[in-house]
Amino acid sequence: MSDFADRLIAWHAHSGRHDLPWQNTTDPYRIWLSEIMLQQTQVDTVIPYYARFLARCPTLASLADAPADDVMALWAGLGYYARARNLHACAKQVMSEFGGEFPQTPEQIATLPGIGRSTAAAIAAFAFGQRAAILDGNVKRVLCRVFGVEGFPGSVPVERKLWDLAEDLLPKKNIQTYIQAQMDLGATVCVRGTPKCERCPMAEICVAYQTGRTGQLPEARPRKKPPVRSTQMAVVTDGEQVLLVQRPPKGIWGGLLSLPEFESGMAPEDWWQAFAGDVAVTVSALPQLRHTFTHYVLDISPVRFEVGDLGPMESLEAGRVVTFGEAQELGLPKPVSRILGFG
Ligand code: ADE
Repeated sequence: MSDFADRLIAWHAHSGRHDLPWQNTTDPYRIWLSEIMLQQTQVDTVIPYYARFLARCPTLASLADAPADDVMALWAGLGYYARARNLHACAKQVMSEFGGEFPQTPEQIATLPGIGRSTAAAIAAFAFGQRAAILDGNVKRVLCRVFGVEGFPGSVPVERKLWDLAEDLLPKKNIQTYIQAQMDLGATVCVRGTPKCERCPMAEICVAYQTGRTGQLPEARPRKKPPVRSTQMAVVTDGEQVLLVQRPPKGIWGGLLSLPEFESGMAPEDWWQAFAGDVAVTVSALPQLRHTFTHYVLDISPVRFEVGDLGPMESLEAGRVVTFGEAQELGLPKPVSRILGFG
C-alpha cells in the first residue's frame, strides 16, 4: 500500500467524519443520492435536504415513479437544478435498462446521466467496495500539494497525470475508508487558502509543505492573454517645446497631461490636416513602443510633427505648450515620458 494511503487511513480513524447520514450504508440508492447532492453543495446544507428527499422517495423505484414536479420541489433551494432532472432520468434509466438494480462497476455507473468519472467511482467504492479512484476538486488540491504537481489541475495533461497518480495510490483494501478519508482531508485540513498543515498526516511527505509552497499549489488557472490595442501619439514640437493635452477625467491616465492621440490606421497627414489645417509641418515616424496595463496591452506608434512655431497651437483642443524641461517635471504617463526621451 502507498505511504499516502496508509497515512490517510490511519488519520481517518481518529480525525475523519464517521456519522454523516449517508455513511454506514451500502445502499447504492442512498449513496448515489448523497453524491449528487454533494457535487456542488456543502455537507451542512445537504443534510436536511437529504433526509426530506429520502422520506418522500425512500427507494430508487419510488423516485422513478415520482412526478417530476415533486422531484423538483424536493430539490428547490439546493441549486444546480440539472442535477435534479438528471437524478430523475437516472432513476428511470436504472429501472428500464438495469432492471431496477443499480449498476456496480464505475464504467457502467458513469454511463448514467449526470454522473462523471469521479462520482461514479465514489458510488462504486462506497456501495460495492470497488477499487476505483476519485478525483474531485478537493482531491486534486491534495494531490497537487502532497506530490508537488505543477501546472493548472484543470488542464488536460495535468488532469491526466492526476488520474494516473490517483489510481496508483489506491490501497488494496479499506477502499471505502480511503475514499471517504480523501474527501475529509480535502474538506477539513488541506483546504483552499490557509491549509491546516500542523494537523495534516501528510506534512512530513508533502512537497508543498516541505518547500513552503502551499500557497502556490495547486496552480491557478493561467490568465488569458490580454487583448492588444493600438494607438498613435503625436509629438507636435518646434524642437524646444512640445504640445500636451489633458486626458478626459475618466479612464486610463484620467486627467493627466499627455500627447494628443489618433486612431491607429489613420494617416498622420490626415490627422494633422484635421488638427491644424494648412500649418506647414514635417512628419516622421518614431519607434513603436508597448505599454502593459492590467487588462490589456497598448501598442503605441509615436509620430513627430515638426513645425516652425508652436505658439499658435496652444489655442487648439485645450492644448498646452511646454518646454521639454517643463514637460519632464510634469507627471506624465510612463510611455509618454519614454517617447519624449525622459527614460
Ligand atoms: N463530498 C462528496 N462526497 C462526499 C461524501 N461522501 N462525504 C462528504 N463530503 C462529500
